Amino acid sequence: MKKKDKLKELRIVDNFYQTSAFYPMSTILISTVSENGKTNLGAYSLCFPYYIAGKDYYAMILECRNSSNTAQNLLRNKKCTLNFITDEKKYFKEAVRLGFPGETTDEKMKNCLFTLVDSELGSDRPQIVEESYQVFECTWDDSLENAHEDKAGQLEGYEPPYRSFNGITSKFGAHFILKIDKILMKEKYHNAIINGVNSKNFPNVPVDYGYRDSTNFWCSKFKKPFSEKIPDKNNGDVKSVIYAAERIDPDVKFTEEACAKLVKIPRVFLKAALTQMVQIAKEEGISIIDEQALDIINDKRRKEKK
Ligand SMILES: Cc1cc2nc3c(=O)[nH]c(=O)nc-3n(C[C@H](O)[C@H](O)[C@H](O)COP(=O)(O)O)c2cc1C
Repeated sequence: MKKKDKLKELRIVDNFYQTSAFYPMSTILISTVSENGKTNLGAYSLCFPYYIAGKDYYAMILECRNSSNTAQNLLRNKKCTLNFITDEKKYFKEAVRLGFPGETTDEKMKNCLFTLVDSELGSDRPQIVEESYQVFECTWDDSLENAHEDKAGQLEGYEPPYRSFNGITSKFGAHFILKIDKILMKEKYHNAIINGVNSKNFPNVPVDYGYRDSTNFWCSKFKKPFSEKIPDKNNGDVKSVIYAAERIDPDVKFTEEACAKLVKIPRVFLKAALTQMVQIAKEEGISIIDEQALDIINDKRRKEKK
């Protein structure tokens, strides 16, 4: 029998995600507006969804060297655009070039491979990388943690005190919570999301491997994705939905047929979903939720989510 590889402890050091780990990430070119009004592109991977639901807006978080053009531009005018690039080697090569610290916008953008086009959100916005498969246009929320007090201009490092999660967070570091104003997607993938994704209509998303040394960044090409069915643990269990539905509100009843349509809701979310449905039913003057009423209610729930 093959001996299993043992997990062995590794020392946690600065930049642990790239020095002590293999950490899969996306490759994003962030466009910002420089002091002379030109669009600057910087390569970034530490950029993740932050507020995904239950807040007034949706947001990403960016972890960034605070002396970078990107950080300085964000401190100055708050606008940035996240351009997600595909897995072509020439694009990654260009991303690594745009990721070399210390160059001015004019120097790095002089012979840039990418095509820049104007934003539809206004002339104060950075331009967009046309080759991107998807684009998030964002505004930094500098109201969190009073980060609007942090100002651009200190390229040799910022002195304490530091903020915990938004603005200047250490001598050389910054975090930016970026409100997503608009998501744009190439038509092919837009259609895929609207009409149904299959293994053939994913964009060619590269994986930035996180790990790097003083010589190389590492990236891998896209491979055809495979799917895994979500377990259908509740299937056929109409009785438990009926049981829960009967206990939400004495004035609103669910028919058996409507309950049958709700068996796929995972048990932990069932009570909250039924409660919300009853609340909408009451607003709509519905006292019996049948299949037709359920369609109306679910339509309203979807709209509320938006
Ligand atoms: C693939 C890749 C990913 C990178 N990710 C980050 C990151 O998430 N945060 C960061 O501060 N720097 C990151 N860098 C380094 C920045 O690109 C570098 O600081 C660069 O100078 C930023 O450009 P700018 O000064 O025009 O903003 C990355 C570089 C590469 C090549």
